[in-house]
Amino acid sequence: MKKLLLSNFKSNKSIQEANNWLDTFLEKISLLNTSNVEIAVAPSFLSLEEFSQKIAAASVPLQLTTQNISAYPAGSYTGAISVKNLEGLNLQYAIVGHSERRKYFGETSKSVAKKVEQAVDGEMTPVVCLDIEYLEEQIAAIDVKLLEKCIFAYEPLSAIGSGKNADVGTVKKVSQKIKTLAGEVRFLYGGSVTAENVLEYLLVCDGVLVGSFSLDPNQFAQLVTTVATNS
Ligand code: PGA
Repeated sequence: MKKLLLSNFKSNKSIQEANNWLDTFLEKISLLNTSNVEIAVAPSFLSLEEFSQKIAAASVPLQLTTQNISAYPAGSYTGAISVKNLEGLNLQYAIVGHSERRKYFGETSKSVAKKVEQAVDGEMTPVVCLDIEYLEEQIAAIDVKLLEKCIFAYEPLSAIGSGKNADVGTVKKVSQKIKTLAGEVRFLYGGSVTAENVLEYLLVCDGVLVGSFSLDPNQFAQLVTTVATNS
């Protein structure tokens, strides 16, 4: 299976800055053979429509991803973005349960499990973020029939945005633990991934989630090039 390289903008960038990112990134990778990697990008909700149109018009395969979705379907849930709201945008993935959502927005393993259901209903693959502290509880909360539809991302809190990427041996052990609990699922690592360290992780993971390093389109293109030309 192709390695998944997923860029998460988080709450960074205006709509214009995000568009500039996309233009630069598409140009940078236009001459690269990316047939052996899967590239995905998660801008803010406000950029999804324009990204969707630009990606459809470009010849480069880039999977559009949402950083979050509502735990509820369409209905009276003021301020929430449901999978219904996202219909027609050609979203491939939905990141759910990021530790920043747990920390700042009070998300729980139960609400994340509901988001997994919503993502699957909306024909998106949930990318479920986990840290050791709540890994077992979160996997146990997910409907067992949906586990095989999920991708799990190990994102240790100490590694996120800190420049202190996790030890590869530990990541490998966590991968084994997740596979024992959830079956033969796709497994990603996230936390201070860069073009310099990405290949180490890909020896033990099916892909990476990249925050800070991917905010610069040139850097993310460099990471993609490193993987595309070395795997
Ligand atoms: P980082 O973020 O690459 O900035 O550490 C990773 C993430 O939170 O997914």
